[in-house]
Amino acid sequence: MVQRYAGGVRSSYRARMAQKADNHVMQGKRILLGVTGGIAAYKSADLVRRLVEHGAQVQVVMTAAAREFVTPTTFQALSGRAVRTDLWDPAAEAAMGHIELARWAELVLVAPASADFLARLAHGLADDLLTTLCLATAAPIAVAPAMNQLMWSNAATRSNVDLLTSRGMHLIGPAVGDQACGEYGPGRLLEPMEIVSQIAPLLAPAGPLVGRRVLLTAGPTRECIDPVRFVSNRSSGKMGFAMAESMRAAGADVVLISGPVFLPTPPGVRRIDVESAEQMYAAVQRELPGTAIFIGTAAVADYRPVACAPQKIKKNSETLALELTRTTDILLQVSAGAQRPFMVGFAAETNAVEHYALAKLLAKNLDLIAANEVGHAKAFDSDDNSLLVLWRGGRLELPVSSKRELARALTGVIIEQYLAQLAARDRDSAAQHDSAELATREGARAS
Ligand code: PMT
Repeated sequence: MVQRYAGGVRSSYRARMAQKADNHVMQGKRILLGVTGGIAAYKSADLVRRLVEHGAQVQVVMTAAAREFVTPTTFQALSGRAVRTDLWDPAAEAAMGHIELARWAELVLVAPASADFLARLAHGLADDLLTTLCLATAAPIAVAPAMNQLMWSNAATRSNVDLLTSRGMHLIGPAVGDQACGEYGPGRLLEPMEIVSQIAPLLAPAGPLVGRRVLLTAGPTRECIDPVRFVSNRSSGKMGFAMAESMRAAGADVVLISGPVFLPTPPGVRRIDVESAEQMYAAVQRELPGTAIFIGTAAVADYRPVACAPQKIKKNSETLALELTRTTDILLQVSAGAQRPFMVGFAAETNAVEHYALAKLLAKNLDLIAANEVGHAKAFDSDDNSLLVLWRGGRLELPVSSKRELARALTGVIIEQYLAQLAARDRDSAAQHDSAELATREGARAS
């Protein structure tokens, strides 16, 4: 067993790895961008610019109301394509009919999507070019709403959005914040870069992990004390969900097994909800076959009550002792199993972070571990984090940044180490094959 462990911080390496994870997910992809009427339509111009920068081909379709806010010329200049506005334009239809346009799209993105547009979409109307295209396309559809906060909260809009998402439409945002009308609340269009990163996983996957399965655990577990109480921890699931999102953006088929959290599922990710450590382990065992990379981001309870009381425990005494027993160490079991994938663990430590993380890397026979200092408002339930990544032969410090940025950088490191391991295996088996062949030939010559 190789236990070499080299020090040294490499920050340019970090940027390279983050870029690798992105890996031109959008290169050459055909995106039909619908722009509907609203003050946020001006942001769509920047969105077109960002999509084009990422290598996408963008065809803009504007509704009549959108043209009250921004001119088609702006979008034409940015996308390099004539903007489509009318279902009945004979010249445009002769160049590419609306059905052809609906087939051309690999993704339909409507940003901003007004309340009126969502209502028309929910009810299957096809009274203009954009709604017709949405009905006629087989491509995934994503809508990024933007409207006044009361319009967003209105029961009619809520039920239209529920209907659309129940039919598989992807909802992107909206954000909460100051509104153009002077009010504050939910209904702001997400920033263009945020929209770009949320649609990336919806496009036919590209990237180094295409065809590979990644299994992740995330969030806390809850261990039953009685029907209304449990033992748990402060994990929010943010780090694990960010890892699932960036693994998907690298092209992987991602299965995310999550404890109880309040987070939306990253687009393109299959999610399985569990509550206890025991349920998480059972779900991992079920989903493990075919997994290339396993990532244990969950803060799995190390101990659970020996018994879960069938009725609510009464406060009859001054003190109450709970007897706890060890839970199964999921990471250790997967690592020791016959179907061992590339193993990535996390280490949550309040002190001597590197020392304990290294011990866990070796004791659990992992390929890589990401350690974070926790406690005192660090890591657990915060939007930011910092990580120390260790593997046999290297270490990398990822300084404080958002969990999504960290996830992208860590994904890059994981991909590099995983691919290096595959290449080393290929070399070993080729060498074994060669020496077996040589032995056979020499044996034949000697006899
Ligand atoms: O969810 P957030 O609020 O975003 O916070 C992120 C985080 C702090 C939870 C995350 O970054 C993190 O550190 N996750 C691992 C937490 C943890 O339980 O660490 P540990 O050092 O106790 O466990 C080591 C590893 O063993 C972890 O990969 C853990 O998932 C795994 N484990 C632990 C116990 C167990 N019974 N089964 C396991 O698989």
